[in-house]
Amino acid sequence: MSDNTPFYVTTPIYYVNDKPHIGHAYTTMLADTLARSHRLLGHDTWFLTGSDEHGQKVQEAAAARGVPAQAHVDEMVLRFQELWERLEITHDDFIRTTDPRHTKVVQDILQDLYDRGEIYQAEYDGLYDVRSETFITEKDLPDGSSLANLPDHVKVIQETNYFFRMSNYQEWLIQYIEDNPEFIQPDFRRNETLGFLRKELSDLCISRPKARLSWGIELPFDPEFVTYVWFDALVNYISAVGYKSDDAQFARRWPVQVHLIGKDILTTHTVYWPTMLKAMGVAMPKTIFAHGWWLSGRDKMSKSTGNVVNPLDYADRFGVDALRYFLIAEMNLGQDASFTEEVFIKRYNSDLANDLGNLTSRVLKMVHTHCDAKVPKGPTALASGSEEAALWTHVQQAVEQMDHQVRSMRPDLGVAAVMTAIREANKYIGARAPWKQAKEDDKQPLYDTLYVALEALRVCSALLYPVMPAKMTALRNQIGAGEALPVVEDLRKYGQLAVGTSLPESEGLFPRHQKPKPAPEAAPKADPKEKAPAAEQVVTLDEIGIDDFFKAKLKTAVVREAEKVEGADKLLKLQLDVGGESRQIVAGIAQHYSPEDVVGKTIVIVSNLKPATIRGIESRGMLLAASKGKQLTLVTVDADEFPSGAKVG
Ligand code: ME8
Ligand code: MG
Repeated sequence: MSDNTPFYVTTPIYYVNDKPHIGHAYTTMLADTLARSHRLLGHDTWFLTGSDEHGQKVQEAAAARGVPAQAHVDEMVLRFQELWERLEITHDDFIRTTDPRHTKVVQDILQDLYDRGEIYQAEYDGLYDVRSETFITEKDLPDGSSLANLPDHVKVIQETNYFFRMSNYQEWLIQYIEDNPEFIQPDFRRNETLGFLRKELSDLCISRPKARLSWGIELPFDPEFVTYVWFDALVNYISAVGYKSDDAQFARRWPVQVHLIGKDILTTHTVYWPTMLKAMGVAMPKTIFAHGWWLSGRDKMSKSTGNVVNPLDYADRFGVDALRYFLIAEMNLGQDASFTEEVFIKRYNSDLANDLGNLTSRVLKMVHTHCDAKVPKGPTALASGSEEAALWTHVQQAVEQMDHQVRSMRPDLGVAAVMTAIREANKYIGARAPWKQAKEDDKQPLYDTLYVALEALRVCSALLYPVMPAKMTALRNQIGAGEALPVVEDLRKYGQLAVGTSLPESEGLFPRHQKPKPAPEAAPKADPKEKAPAAEQVVTLDEIGIDDFFKAKLKTAVVREAEKVEGADKLLKLQLDVGGESRQIVAGIAQHYSPEDVVGKTIVIVSNLKPATIRGIESRGMLLAASKGKQLTLVTVDADEFPSGAKVG
């Protein structure tokens, strides 16, 4: 990218119905980090996010609450807008697909395509997945379901609809993707798209009859229909920057530098969107970048298993910047990454509390004690071959790396390079031992050490500013670099901190956090030796508050089926009925109960434990049992007619 190229970055516009979770926060923080980096570089930057507010899911949710759809979305959108404020997101615009500035552009586009014969009417006979708001075929059905046995979120649709002649652009799109390697990234997503395009591309159904779905943008040429939600949603990327409304703004922003998306919405962005743009005669996005998935441990986050990470929990406990740091530092863009409290605290303590926190507090403490809380006078130039020069080289490598890695969409590696420089600065302090230098009559060596360390902090804090804006602003203030935004040109120059600057009182930026106590196990781990599985089934708790207790959702469950787990003489696999929902759990009770013993019993389970995989079998929950020595007995509810799924506690 040449230095003056304007930088326009987008996130997906999220379904307004969903409760924002760590995945939404991630894409948005990543976009924010990129936007802030480009702003520091002086690029003409524009950062767009927003909300996707039409479609069947929203209509159903609003109806279930008994409120008009518009009132429902007006309320829901606040949760996203408030979260972005809390997470220091600096988007330049927030587009809602119910905004008139958007609906009007969608209608103009549709009318134009219709007038030019790009849209025609035909029958649609097929399936619709409400959860992803996409038309699907039988082979897309989730495992275990079939046409005869459809999951709740898939509907059979037979209706007259309008279609966009997407198939006309198949050959063109394949050629375009092949000619433009930067168009779809990472590479394996590009290949995935090309793989998809090897099959014959069909035309895209772009409408829904109002009789079935009324919550959408009316087709300008047929008031009996509304626009299919994806055809509406994708247009946000251009309607928000002046397409068909403000030519000057559109020319300034488009084509977008990068559409950031998750891997779940690859095809809509790499097939539907480019063909739509082509038909409109609009230039292609420079890059569509699909990042990987945040997993809860090793499992997919999902509402039904209750293992979704709420970004606000972490922001409240550790601070917004620590959360931002973790998400950026931990994910290799493109790959999946695992989010657990344990990994979070480990990285927080090692990178922030130890490496960066220690360096800062050691240096500042000495400056306050021995230099009258003023920036001391250090060497005016760095003698080649000196320890100072070696440290400065590491710091400059971090500058290079951050620049390079942000452009290559690997901010995790940029951050890692800064951490390397910070560790080198700690080593430098260790080698120079300023606490010893402080005891000498000649204080100049002490001043030299502290000044050079402050300079390293000046550069590193600027490099980390786009990731941790508030904490790095505080740090820069503490070292006398001022509160203004860092200036990129100054990062390559040694000696920018003004000697004699008074430093304000400083306080620790990243207090250490205790490692979490291991939670009571979801179920015995897949331990080949099967150590004491019975004991692991029993909840043992130290003194806790009532709130902690209520975190565990105890419920009654009826055992419908039970069988031994092959090759594991202590495990039983149980099929439970929990208030009409079926669940499978694996329990270490086989030496105390035979399968026949337990079938029909009403037991008590912890229903909101993270799922675990035991001997390759999924276990969702843990049963309660009392145990003493070798004895074990299940906690049961003695009531034949008692409903399963009742709350216990
Ligand atoms: O698909 N890990 O909206 P959506 C990482 N409205 N990122 C995740 C994630 C996870 N576990 N879960 C969600 C839609 N995301 C449409 C988009 S765009 C024109 C319309 C992020 O609310 C990721 O960016 O389902 C993913 O693509 C997006 O949330 C899906 O958000
Ligand atoms: Mg989704």
